Amino acid sequence: MARITASVYTSHVPAIGVAMDLGKTQEPYYAPLFAGYEPARAWMAANTPDVVVLVFNDHANAFSLEMVPTFALGMSARYEPADEGWGARPVPPVVGQPTLSAHIAHSVIREDFDLTLVNDMPVDHGCTVPLSIMFGQPDAWPCAVIPLVVNVVQYPIPSGRRCLELGKAVRRAVESYDEDLDVQVWGTGGMSHQLQGPRAGLINQKWDNEFFERLVNDPEGQATVEHVEYVREAGSEGIELVMWLVARGAMADLAGGGAPTEVHRLYHVPASNTAAGQLILKDASTMTTFA
Ligand code: DHB
Ligand code: FE
Repeated sequence: MARITASVYTSHVPAIGVAMDLGKTQEPYYAPLFAGYEPARAWMAANTPDVVVLVFNDHANAFSLEMVPTFALGMSARYEPADEGWGARPVPPVVGQPTLSAHIAHSVIREDFDLTLVNDMPVDHGCTVPLSIMFGQPDAWPCAVIPLVVNVVQYPIPSGRRCLELGKAVRRAVESYDEDLDVQVWGTGGMSHQLQGPRAGLINQKWDNEFFERLVNDPEGQATVEHVEYVREAGSEGIELVMWLVARGAMADLAGGGAPTEVHRLYHVPASNTAAGQLILKDASTMTTFA
């Protein structure tokens, strides 16, 4: 059967992708950030999954404001990079896993999550920057990716509770898939940042670090935190952090198993307009089997 092996959390700041694409990672501004990514990259190289369910928000590249799905699952064999601003990144196409996508859709929708199924969509920095952060600059991504797009752009957006519960449902779907696959769930976006208005540039280090602690140690409590707290404390785009709860929901402890092991944590300020965060949690079920 397929199994969840880990959850990974990371900011998806477009400028971080551009720094890699333009060979600027060793410039003084970026060198400390990329040095901070090294332990995560080394861990990922030794623990590359077969499939990543990659939770992110589209930034009006796949979906304009004419149509805003709350949760959209990619069903394709292939997704092309696209982006606003600097344009499509020169990174490999994202290769999907359509049979597992179909199984997740079947399982999760039958559990009353109303996913939009997307048979053709481009993926923007929300998806490609986390891949570059974790895998560097390969000619092809080393695993399949199933995009799971969450609306955090236009209100009303899904609650933390709904995101956590979706993660639990994704775990049940993966564990009922009859193929021997290692699957990770990645939550992306954040940490605190605000890109517009009088508070543009807002970064709240205290709140971000409390969020890390609550996400790791009290995810059910974090799931009750209202959107207005994210926006007030972490900025208008800090609301992206609610997507990390989908990945956290997929861990064994929320299905009656053991607590995950924290493999890596990074907090770096600033990266572009953002506090860049990164976290890896190894699932308890894989620890008992393979530790
Ligand atoms: C920035 C961060 C984001 O998450 C994003 O989607 C766009 C821009 C930034 O820090 O500039
Ligand atoms: Fe974003």
